[in-house]
Amino acid sequence: MVIESKIPKEAEIPPTDFVIVGGTGDLALRKIFPALFHRFLDGQIPESCALIAAARNAIPKTEFLAQLRRFCEEVITQDNEADWDVFADRIQIIAFNVRTGEGASDIEEACVETRAVPRVFYFAISPALFADACQTLERTGLKTDQTRLVVEKPMGHDLKSAEALDDSILEVFEERQIYRIDHYLGKETVQNLMALRFANSIFESLWSNAHIDHVQISVAEEVGVESRESYYDEFGALRDMVQNHLLQLLCLVAMEPPSKFVADQVRDEKLRVLRALSPITHDNFDSNVKLGQYEKGSVQATHVPSYTDEVGRPTGTETFAALRCEISNWRWSGVPFYLRTGKRLASRASEIVVTFKRPPHNIFQNGARGSEVMEPNRLVIRLQPDEGLKLCMTSKEPGPGGMRLFPASLNLSFNETFKTRLPEAYERLLMDVARGNQTLFMRSDEVEAAWAFIDPIVNEAKKRKPEKYTAGSWGPVSSFELMAVHGHRWIEPEVHG
Ligand code: BG6
Repeated sequence: MVIESKIPKEAEIPPTDFVIVGGTGDLALRKIFPALFHRFLDGQIPESCALIAAARNAIPKTEFLAQLRRFCEEVITQDNEADWDVFADRIQIIAFNVRTGEGASDIEEACVETRAVPRVFYFAISPALFADACQTLERTGLKTDQTRLVVEKPMGHDLKSAEALDDSILEVFEERQIYRIDHYLGKETVQNLMALRFANSIFESLWSNAHIDHVQISVAEEVGVESRESYYDEFGALRDMVQNHLLQLLCLVAMEPPSKFVADQVRDEKLRVLRALSPITHDNFDSNVKLGQYEKGSVQATHVPSYTDEVGRPTGTETFAALRCEISNWRWSGVPFYLRTGKRLASRASEIVVTFKRPPHNIFQNGARGSEVMEPNRLVIRLQPDEGLKLCMTSKEPGPGGMRLFPASLNLSFNETFKTRLPEAYERLLMDVARGNQTLFMRSDEVEAAWAFIDPIVNEAKKRKPEKYTAGSWGPVSSFELMAVHGHRWIEPEVHG
């Protein structure tokens, strides 16, 4: 069945001014403005919204648009070329110094006159500038009661620095005004995970240690460090990916149902999961954490250099991390959650695989072909690419010839089922900011609880050397052992195809 999808009425946003601070930088060009363009094409952005790129060194608008167009090109067609012109025309480039406040009056002038219209300030700048930028917004009067602030990771590099960063933001803004982005929460299938769990009854009764054997969450990337060596070499996979994206995914799988789908209730439940994670410390680190670093190899038939060649010096930073986590509560006690993420792996694939317990007794052991290799039921939630859900089951092969069992699956591919382009995470998140909906954004206590779990792991990791793995593989050998000793194995994306 193919379902035609249209933007529902309630998705329209109220008039809102968007001020992207650092608006001519990489994040703004690659993600933020293209996201706004997509929403503009769908008619979601009212005409009265100001779209402002505020930057210390404002480049000429023609240059900015030429750069931006490259990231929007794939959706510009002969039919909508005029829309691009209208969108481009609406963007204003304003020189703004976040330290001195120079240029603030130009921003004020460019914003919609009434101060009742929400103003979104999106900090696409280094977190080192956040404190000054907040103070500047206050001092210059740009901050109104209706101002919303969007900030991106890295939100600190450990618990202490995250607290300090938060304190500096909270000096100026109230929590209700702060939108901390974890773009994984804006991904379609991640939201669908909540629909799957909380809009259906069949899974909830199975969703615990009574029926689930283990959960694995993989976020595999083909890319290397790209042009971010200095950031990445300081952060590594644990702080770049696990502290935020993977722990957020874990929370969504493991959280209790909130009584309402509203921001603070959802965030309260996620926080409870983070606080229930069993600590990984010196004593249990080696049996629960495996780290790797890629050597040269071939990813999708392209030769790529080693990590150390990419950063230009020997370094002990991990580009791969696999963890075995436990959640100490009634629902999940005894169910391992395996997390793994890495760069330069065999393919780009992010998946959550929930493996159910095997049937308590195999009645097919006498003669049914295939019964000896009966796989447990698995629910595969595919985040990217090819978003979808798959329920793996054992079925009878049709036709005569006795009972023959084979692995079958119920498949819901979003691309095939819904005749529509799936929006990028930033599109959804930006519209949520405009609507004042914080459900898919992190609260400060969540960020801090995640650091409290990760800090001791990072401290132990620093004392060890990551194991080498060949670029284009699925990571270091030890990551397979992490599961094998418990009778489990990673389910690679191809295997359940
Ligand atoms: C970012 C990390 O948060 O997420 C990057 O800093 C990573 O290192 C990226 O490549 C992955 O995001 P996505 O949406 O491409 O899976």
